[in-house]
Amino acid sequence: MNRVTGKNATVRARVFHAPGEPLADEELRLTEVRDDLVRVRLCASGVCGSDLHVVAGDWTFEGPLVLGHEGAGIVEEVGPAVTDVRPGDHVVLSWFAPCRRCGRCARGEAWLCENTKALENTLPDGTTSFYTLDGAPVPAFLGLGTFAEGTVVPQSAAVPINKDVPFPVAALIGCAVTTGVGAVVNTAGVRLGESAVVIGCGGVGQAVVLGAELAGADPIIAVDLSDERLVLARELGVTHALRGDDPDLVDHVRAITGGGADHAFEAIGGAATIEMLPDLIRRGGQAVIVGMPAEGVRVALDPFDLADGGKRILGCNYGNSVPSVDFPRLARLYASGRLPLDRLVGRKVTPDDVDGALEDLRRAAGLRTIIEYGNREEGA
Ligand SMILES: NC(=O)c1ccc[n+]([C@@H]2O[C@H](COP(=O)([O-])OP(=O)(O)OC[C@H]3O[C@@H](n4cnc5c(N)ncnc54)[C@H](O)[C@@H]3O)[C@@H](O)[C@H]2O)c1
Ligand SMILES: [Zn+2]
Ligand SMILES: [Zn+2]
Repeated sequence: MNRVTGKNATVRARVFHAPGEPLADEELRLTEVRDDLVRVRLCASGVCGSDLHVVAGDWTFEGPLVLGHEGAGIVEEVGPAVTDVRPGDHVVLSWFAPCRRCGRCARGEAWLCENTKALENTLPDGTTSFYTLDGAPVPAFLGLGTFAEGTVVPQSAAVPINKDVPFPVAALIGCAVTTGVGAVVNTAGVRLGESAVVIGCGGVGQAVVLGAELAGADPIIAVDLSDERLVLARELGVTHALRGDDPDLVDHVRAITGGGADHAFEAIGGAATIEMLPDLIRRGGQAVIVGMPAEGVRVALDPFDLADGGKRILGCNYGNSVPSVDFPRLARLYASGRLPLDRLVGRKVTPDDVDGALEDLRRAAGLRTIIEYGNREEGA
């Protein structure tokens, strides 16, 4: 029996303490399931570039912090005020639990919720999902902490989806897919036959590629520094794959697109690649910043070129998506075969190999590495 089941459940979790240190392997207690809280047994978690930003110290986070924010699992227990899910439901976790009451939420812009506590790594009441066995609170990254066998989240962060969707695919819907596909269809609004260039083809960029294909973009140009990632992008169906360190990159993109792309997507968070965006798009084109830079990064852009060329630079948080609407929609598109999300699932590892999964990100290797959680014997 998995230990997540039952009162005072304890779980194994991978905990960030300080930048550069390996994640610690700790036994933690989950908070009690009260009010509108939901306890979820994790089945799969992706390892995202944003987790790596924390480990690398790009963003200021104090430890301890249960890392991981791209996960899916099964609801085990729900609080008395929960109406949206019940035990046994398969859920994708949202890393930006919306309050559903503020002005932004009321306007259908959950990704801009003004009251979410997710960015403070707590539950809506300010308490934490996890505690040490001594009772000290342990925050969870973006209010989730999916590098653990189980977690406790508000119901707005646990979105039920079709049980036919495999858990690794469901986990990716929790971040990379919703962000990448959303950047294409919600933020950019790509239309049939428009050209798109995707700079950075990791998990998020690969999802941008699938989104661009779904939207009927053509040509689709992938750019990366990793030859392995460029081969994978070709396998996903891009029409062109170019190295990011090619000194003639801009000229190549202009030649392929006839003067500049209609859309460019930056899925790295790098100053140099963001600064390149205006040169990659045509007059009147638009570029979307999807990658999240390290704290303090500044870029230099030529405002005359932007104004004169009528070019637009847009920011994109969580694919401008509403989890309760977009997670099930993406799952349906997968189930109907129109969005082959299983093609984004990479190497599968056990929770013992989270460090190896982070290393895959550092090396820009493969498709998204997925942590799979099996049942753990009591006392094991
Ligand atoms: N906007 C959002 O809501 C959101 C959501 C999730 C992730 N992110 C961010 O998106 C970024 C990407 O995440 P990921 O999980 O795909 O990471 P990743 O590490 O898997 O992918 C990054 C890719 O960029 C490539 N790259 C790096 N420098 C390059 C360069 N100069 N030219 C071309 N390619 C280059 C790498 O080789 C790698 O393939 C991260 O910054 C992450 O924090 C943003
Ligand atoms: Zn992420
Ligand atoms: Zn809100």
